[in-house]
Amino acid sequence: MFRLGSTRVRRAMGSARPVGGPSRRAVARAAPGVGNLARCGLIAGRTHTRRVPAAVRSAGTLLRMTMAPETPKRRLLRRFALAAIVTNIGIVFTGGIVRITGSGLGCSDWPTCDGSNIAPVAGGDHAGWQAFIEFGNRLLTFVVLAAAIAVVVQMRRTGPHPRSVRLLAWALPAGVLGQAVLGGITVLTGLSPYTVAAHFLLSMVLIAIAVAFHERIRPRDPDPAVSRGVQNATTALALVAFTVLVLGTIVTGAGPHGGDLGAPRFNVDIRLAAIAHAHAVWMLIGLTVATLAVTWRTAPARFRAALTALLVLELAQGALGYTQYALGIPPSLVSLHVLGAAVLWAVVSAVWIRARPVEATDDQRVPAAAAGTDSLVAK
Ligand code: HEM
Repeated sequence: MFRLGSTRVRRAMGSARPVGGPSRRAVARAAPGVGNLARCGLIAGRTHTRRVPAAVRSAGTLLRMTMAPETPKRRLLRRFALAAIVTNIGIVFTGGIVRITGSGLGCSDWPTCDGSNIAPVAGGDHAGWQAFIEFGNRLLTFVVLAAAIAVVVQMRRTGPHPRSVRLLAWALPAGVLGQAVLGGITVLTGLSPYTVAAHFLLSMVLIAIAVAFHERIRPRDPDPAVSRGVQNATTALALVAFTVLVLGTIVTGAGPHGGDLGAPRFNVDIRLAAIAHAHAVWMLIGLTVATLAVTWRTAPARFRAALTALLVLELAQGALGYTQYALGIPPSLVSLHVLGAAVLWAVVSAVWIRARPVEATDDQRVPAAAAGTDSLVAK
């Protein structure tokens, strides 16, 4: 990990330029991590000839600490956070399989399967395998819950964390419990397309929370990564992407894969819904290309990588969407489309959060004196 006190930095920041200090460009070339701090005006150099605002001074005090290498406990926390992302995406995929196999009412009651047994028994209204698919999906809730609880437990062992990080962690198990109840309401309403859509969209919120948590606990520079304008562009990206998801659920609600032959459907022309859905996708692609073009030379590598991955996923998911529409919505492609939507949304969430500054948590910092960085930080 890059240290502020390294010889490279000292050379780049050295006293050879008493008036202006080294240019920001020189600093960034010699030590990319520090270039960002210089941009924030937090490092001595050019900045000590300027009046330093109070807010920046207090941030400077904060940065008199520098980032420590990641501890094993914190690495474990990141693994649990990754497990929370993967399990939440996984259950969206298996939920899609419940829907395309017509197993949504395989267990026609909730929380029991048939009104008296928790697990499916032979001889119900649906074929045994449909009951097992639906019940299997219910069981997966416990796997998702276990990952969420592991995140909270490990988060408490690695603190103190900022309040926002603690809230994100606690939102995970709370959200999974909310999903269990909403899943029950979905069954009890006979798979109303409104509750099916809400069930899907709540999973998207949980995925965003898990990704945000994972990103917030990564070791990285506590600096604003991109300009305010680009941050706004990522907010627009997230809003358009969420609109694409909502319109997708309307297409689904109007289409043939309701999870059961008798499931109610939206009274909407599926063709019109699909056209609106695809138009929103084109907007999303346009916005992503524009953001990528504007930030290509200047954005930090991790932000650019997420944005590039997003564009690739949008093109693949768009091609899949058109193909499944042209082929009459075959179930196998629908389940891939659902998986693609969840993964794509996770990447949108990563793009959004990577465009925002992250505060280092206490156990990620070591006193600058110990790291020998005092001379490099604004006083
Ligand atoms: C960025 C690209 C796209 C994303 C993120 C996306 C996302 C979604 C989502 C979330 C759903 C609802 C899934 C559910 O309720 O379980 C959906 C359904 C659907 N999408 Fe897309 N979609 C994309 C592109 C397209 C395109 C270009 C088309 C072409 C018309 C398309 C056609 C459909 C169809 C026909 C359905 C209904 C499938 C069903 O019956 O379940 N999608 N999409």
